[in-house]
Amino acid sequence: MAERRPGNLPAEMTSFVGRTGELAAGGRMLMGGRLLTVTGPAGVGKSRLALRVADGVRRRFPDGLWHVELSQVAPAHLRPAGGPGPAAAVAAALGRHGEHAEDGDGLAEALGDRRALLVLDTCEHLPTEIGPLVEALLRGAPRVRVLATGRSPLGLPGERVLRLDPLPLTDPADPDPACPSVALFAERAVAVDPDFSLTSCALTDVAQVCRCLDGLPLAIELAAARTRSLSIPELLERLDDMTTMPGWGAHTAAPRHRDLRAAIAWSHELCRPDQRTLWEALAVIEGEFGVEAARRAVTREGVLVTRQSLDELVDRSILLRSGDPGRPGRYRMLETYRRFWLDPNFGRPGRAVLGHRLGAGRWSRLPQGAAAVPAPAPVRIGRPVTSTLTPRELEVAELIAEGLSNPQIAVRLLIAKRTVDAHVRNILAKGGLASRTQVAAWFAERTQWADA
Ligand SMILES: Nc1ncnc2c1ncn2[C@@H]1O[C@H](COP(=O)(O)OP(=O)(O)O)[C@@H](O)[C@H]1O
Ligand SMILES: [Mg+2]
Repeated sequence: MAERRPGNLPAEMTSFVGRTGELAAGGRMLMGGRLLTVTGPAGVGKSRLALRVADGVRRRFPDGLWHVELSQVAPAHLRPAGGPGPAAAVAAALGRHGEHAEDGDGLAEALGDRRALLVLDTCEHLPTEIGPLVEALLRGAPRVRVLATGRSPLGLPGERVLRLDPLPLTDPADPDPACPSVALFAERAVAVDPDFSLTSCALTDVAQVCRCLDGLPLAIELAAARTRSLSIPELLERLDDMTTMPGWGAHTAAPRHRDLRAAIAWSHELCRPDQRTLWEALAVIEGEFGVEAARRAVTREGVLVTRQSLDELVDRSILLRSGDPGRPGRYRMLETYRRFWLDPNFGRPGRAVLGHRLGAGRWSRLPQGAAAVPAPAPVRIGRPVTSTLTPRELEVAELIAEGLSNPQIAVRLLIAKRTVDAHVRNILAKGGLASRTQVAAWFAERTQWADA
């Protein structure tokens, strides 16, 4: 029988896919320092990776691996006086339901000389409390290490940061079934439909679904769950609508994981007002961009675009750095984060999104000022087409620019011709454009502009 070690690491409920490089790097970084923080956008897989990294180094911690789920701990300003904070959550995980309130120093004293790993999962909403707590733990318990997850680094001395990108994608024209994003989709689709298989036709579409969802594991899982009732071509066609619908995800998931809006709305709540404005202003840019292109795109008064302000959004996991080491200083925003501002159906901060998430009852009251965030006016890219085109409409616009007719576009995208007709009508209406030639001209101008 396997030796039982102390700890409370939860067992995995679903299969784990890919991440070989990140697992190895995480283990190395944790053993090379005492504090590792895994950061990344909502639903990218920080918690799953952290638990796997912890499991991989289990032998080095004979006194236990302790998992502390902090998402249910309300920030200090939203807690009733004396309500349990993160230190109490750590104490509870360690089985110390004492009669007196715990603090970091008391916990460190209790841990003493133990060789233990604390996995502090979901720290982003507790920035003022987690830092001092972790510092006290590391200072007072010299053989304890901490593995934290959150959308931002903790900002402590000696902290190592592992930034987690979405899963790799594969080219739908020549798809690789072993690609982790496709493999994750297939695993979750089989779970709801045992007959699901990646035939060569489905493989192309699944690769396309994963691409539309930026390779974000949470979004891929939510989409795969829909294969219970939809074919893959139907799924592709309705992807835009479905990712915006509240309550789209599994009801067993944590409230912020039930749908993408809730997950992203949480990121929104955690940003400063100037960061929200910059996020909104940058959402018009599709694909990679540098500081100069961002400056040109952001024409709104009072919005400061500097390397530092962009890096701050990277630290909040609103922007990702380009994955290409040959192109330093380049950024990109995940499609779902762009749509948060650009797509009226996605729900707007201060209205449906926050109301929905908070209505789901995670914390009791609205953060101060949250309801006062005004709905943004539509932002324009280039002239005269508004940037509120959905990803699918953009795709159709690109194919129009390539000179394809509507029936040809229908074949290329594996959707009905009447759907293409509807997309084209929308593109013309949203952009105030009169013809396909104007759509093509706009698309060419926009591409040059985004590449700059
Ligand atoms: N490598 C992976 N393999 C399988 N499932 C994954 C993987 N990464 C993430 N997931 C799934 O995606 C969802 C979001 O992952 P999670 O770790 O909770 O994200 P985060 O902590 O970044 O918000 C979860 O349901 C999780 O099980
Ligand atoms: Mg998490």
